[in-house]
Amino acid sequence: MKNIVILISGRGSNMEAIVQACAAEQWPARVAAVISNKAEAGGLTFAAERGIATACVNHKDYPSREAFDAELARVIDQFQPDVVVLAGFMRILTPGFVAHYENRLLNIHPSLLPAFPGLHTHQRAINAGCKLAGATVHFVTAELDHGPIVLQAAVAVLPGETEATLSEKVLRQEHQIYPRAVRWMVTGNLVHDHGRVTTTDGQTQVQFSA
Ligand code: GRF
Repeated sequence: MKNIVILISGRGSNMEAIVQACAAEQWPARVAAVISNKAEAGGLTFAAERGIATACVNHKDYPSREAFDAELARVIDQFQPDVVVLAGFMRILTPGFVAHYENRLLNIHPSLLPAFPGLHTHQRAINAGCKLAGATVHFVTAELDHGPIVLQAAVAVLPGETEATLSEKVLRQEHQIYPRAVRWMVTGNLVHDHGRVTTTDGQTQVQFSA
């Protein structure tokens, strides 16, 4: 049984999708803990109600990123994670933290990386006149919103699209691709080759939607 630890900062809808898929698809894994840097994160309630261990490590209680990351890693490691999942976790992580979880740390970003790392991705995609937008699940490296790509979902950017409509459309895709990527991790279905990630059984790593 593999242990999954999920880090959130807010609503936690991707975390919910992973918890539900883990149970419904009977993964050989359990969500061992959900950890937030914000005590008021809505997702903590969802997790606690399902009997999942929760913890809060408030970044404001630590004098530096290094000190915060050291405590965060200490709390995470109590759950002996095989996979650490960043699901709307809004902190930049130190290189030491990222190295500690090398090949075990996944993130989802609401753009078709390497386009639009950082914030306000949907508005930036609309402003740039993009006809495709989407989301990317990737292994985390020390560079922000960067790393070997596991899975991408693309959606059409239609005339009249707004940040609200686009983010809703992309989020629906996120809820499909993030659980799939985490499942591949716990079932050992991912292969790394020089920064490229493929699946052992040739499953598609891209999906499209209008
Ligand atoms: C998602 O759009 C995710 O891609 C981004 O932050 C948002 C988190 O949403 N990193 P939720 O907390 O999972 O609902």
